Amino acid sequence: MADLHVQAPAKINLHLEVLGLRPDGFHELAMVMQSLELADELALSARADGLLHLVCDQPSLPTDGSNLILRAAEALRHRVQQPELGADLALVKRIPVGAGLAGGSSDAAATLLGLNQLWDLALADDDLHALAEELGSDVPFCLAGGIQLCFGRGERLEPFSSAACPNWTVLLIKDPTASVSTPWAYGRCRELRSDFYLEREVDFEERRQSLRQGPLLAALAGQRPLPPLRNDLQAVVEPEQASVRQGLALLRQAEGALGVAMSGSGPSLYALFADPAAAEAARAQLAGALQAEGFESWCCRCSSMGVRLDRDAA
Ligand code: C5P
Repeated sequence: MADLHVQAPAKINLHLEVLGLRPDGFHELAMVMQSLELADELALSARADGLLHLVCDQPSLPTDGSNLILRAAEALRHRVQQPELGADLALVKRIPVGAGLAGGSSDAAATLLGLNQLWDLALADDDLHALAEELGSDVPFCLAGGIQLCFGRGERLEPFSSAACPNWTVLLIKDPTASVSTPWAYGRCRELRSDFYLEREVDFEERRQSLRQGPLLAALAGQRPLPPLRNDLQAVVEPEQASVRQGLALLRQAEGALGVAMSGSGPSLYALFADPAAAEAARAQLAGALQAEGFESWCCRCSSMGVRLDRDAA
């Protein structure tokens, strides 16, 4: 029986704009990220022998030191200078892997939250955020969750005032045989688009301000219909991935879809619907075509929460 359970939600990008290249080699981004109810579950138990041991219900996932969960655990005990802390970690994987849904990043964020509690470290949110940032660009968002503007390389979070979490339901699809490497997608973006990259902070800030004051945020505040969704990596990945082209074409046929886009660096794709019934109806409408083209699909609501302790499961 585990001592603690943590829910680790997936995210989608409602907006992903590549602004330019930073001196550290990462891309400067302007994004809107949204948590989903689809979540992995991490069970944690303390162990007295100082070992960190990870198991996962999906045998294809590495459970050695390359897994972000173990890297997060190592980073945490290094931060508090207590190498004797040990834990058993068991992951139930529900978020598709290599999909642009931040599954690995959310698992890392869940590890930080869970071990901070399990080991009674009492690290403040700022300390956890700093560790999260070192582990990956999306990990800070996964800790905070809900809906956020994300700037910098993705780690600079800015909640917005009108940010009631949208009540949308998402139809997610992914070809289980396809995956996209995030470094590849950004590298390809650089090859194709770096002539158009902005360079000056003042220009980055102007783009951030356009996002803050633009039609997407107005739509999220209920002031207008949803504009077309923007993901700059979609144009990079689409020509290389047949499943992305096919999936987008399918989702665009869905009745009642408010918007359709790729999430992150893909290849998962999503359509937004006003309510669960509309999303399920679209899934039923597309069921034959999704099956014929080999897509897996999920319907889930947007969530206002990031990683969280699951008190009922313990
Ligand atoms: O931070 P994370 O580990 O998710 O990044 C994976 C890779 O994606 C980076 O090594 C980099 O190649 C690319 N990346 C980027 N700009 C970002 C985020 C990621 O170029 N803002």
